[in-house]
Amino acid sequence: MTTLSVFGAQWGDEGKGKIIDRLADRVDVVVRYQGGANAGHTVIVGNEKYVLHLIPSGILHKGRVNMIGGGVAIDPIKLLEEVDGLLERGVAVTPENLRVCASAHVIFEHHKRIDGLAEVWRGAGRIGTTGRGIGPAYADKTARTGLRISDLLDADRFQARMTAALAEKNALIQKVHGEPALELGDQVERYLALGERLRPFVGDTGAELRRAHRAGKRILFEGAQGLMLDIDHGTYPYVTSSNTGTGGIANGAGFPPNKIDRAWGIAKAYCTRVGEGPFPTELFDADGDAIRKAGKEFGTTTGRPRRAGWFDAVAVRYALELCGADGWIATKLDILDAVDEIKVGVAYRVGDQRYTEYPAHLPNIEGVEVEYETYPGWSDDLSGVRRWEDLPEVVRSYVDELERLVGVPIVMLSVGPERDSVIERNKG
Ligand code: IMP
Repeated sequence: MTTLSVFGAQWGDEGKGKIIDRLADRVDVVVRYQGGANAGHTVIVGNEKYVLHLIPSGILHKGRVNMIGGGVAIDPIKLLEEVDGLLERGVAVTPENLRVCASAHVIFEHHKRIDGLAEVWRGAGRIGTTGRGIGPAYADKTARTGLRISDLLDADRFQARMTAALAEKNALIQKVHGEPALELGDQVERYLALGERLRPFVGDTGAELRRAHRAGKRILFEGAQGLMLDIDHGTYPYVTSSNTGTGGIANGAGFPPNKIDRAWGIAKAYCTRVGEGPFPTELFDADGDAIRKAGKEFGTTTGRPRRAGWFDAVAVRYALELCGADGWIATKLDILDAVDEIKVGVAYRVGDQRYTEYPAHLPNIEGVEVEYETYPGWSDDLSGVRRWEDLPEVVRSYVDELERLVGVPIVMLSVGPERDSVIERNKG
C-alpha cells in the first residue's frame, strides 16, 4: 500500500490531527486537499500541544514532505502565522518540507469580512461558519472571479485582477451591508508582500505528488472537516464549501482517484457538531454536558462549545460507504467513561418510514426521530490501555457493536490525546 486517505466520518472534530500525526510516521508525503484555516488539527507531542490549521500534520515529523493542494483555500496571513509559530518552536519549515500549490485559491480580507456579514444577513438561517472566509472564497472560485496563489507572484497581474475583484466586493460591502470599503492600495501592498514570503514554497504540487507516487513514495491524504459537512453529500446548507471525503482528493490534490489504495474514516465513539444544522442524536441533558466536559469539546479554531450527542451509526455508515472506507478509527473512547449508559442511534424515523440508510434526499433531517440501542457503560479509566486484549469485556463488546452496526472494520481505537494513546488492531 502506498497511498492512504484519512477523512472525517462525522461533522468534523473527530480527532483526525492526532491520528494523522501518528500515521505520518509511516509515510513520505502528507497532503491537504480541501478546506482551509477553518480546520484545527490538534497534535500533542510530549508536553507540547500544536494546533495546525493549514499545514499538514506531517510537519511535526522530520523528513516528510507536506503539501497544501490546489483544492485548499489559503489565507496567506494564517499560513505564514502558522509557519512562524512552528519556526519559533523549533519545528523546521522549509521550501523542501512545505509545498504550496500555485493554483490554490487565496482567501483575502474581503472574504473574511463578507463571511461575517453574510452570517448576519442570514439571521436565524445562519450556518455558524468559522468566519475564516471559506464560503466566499470558494464561491469566487466557482464564479471564476477568484485569485490564486500564482496571482500573488506577478505584481502587474495581481494589481489588475485585485482592482476588478475589490470593486465588486466593495460594492457589496458598502451598498448591501452598509459597511466601510477596503482600500485597494493597502490590500494590494499587503498581499503582494505575503506572496513574496510564500514564493519559495510555491510550486505545482499535483505534478510533484504524482512524481513522488511514480517513485514509490508513500502518500497520506489528510481530510479536514467531516463527510457530513461535505458540500455535496452533507447536511446542506449547513456544510462547509468543499468536498471533505475521498471524493475531494482527485481534484483537490491533482491525483488520480484510482490510485488511492486505501481509505480510513475517523469517527468519535460519540458525536459532536459545531455550528448550526441538523444533528439527529444531539443530547440536551446531563449526559451531553458530561461528554462535552470530559471530551473538552470546545472548537480548536473558534473556541465555541460543541454540541454533543450519541454515536449515529446511520450517518457514519453512510460516510464510510460513500468514501469507500476499508476501515475506520474510533476515537475518544475513553470519554465515554463519563456516562453510565451508552446509546447508539441505529435508525431514523419520519412518520411511518424507518431509515437505516442515511436519507440524503430529505430536505432537512432536523426533524427525524432516532431509534436507539442501549449498552452498559463502564467506570474503568481506559486512557492507559494499549492492547485490545486489555480492554474490559464491556468495552470490547461496545466496540464490536459499533463495528457490526457500521459494517466496516475498526482498525484502531484512540483512548487519549497523546500520540501513543491508541490501540492498533490488525484489520482493514
Ligand atoms: P465554514 O467552513 O467556516 O464555512 O463553516 C461551515 C460549517 O462547517 C460550520 O458549521 C462550521 O462550524 C463547520 N466547520 C468548518 N470547519 C470545521 C472543522 O474543522 N471542524 C468542525 N466543524 C467545522
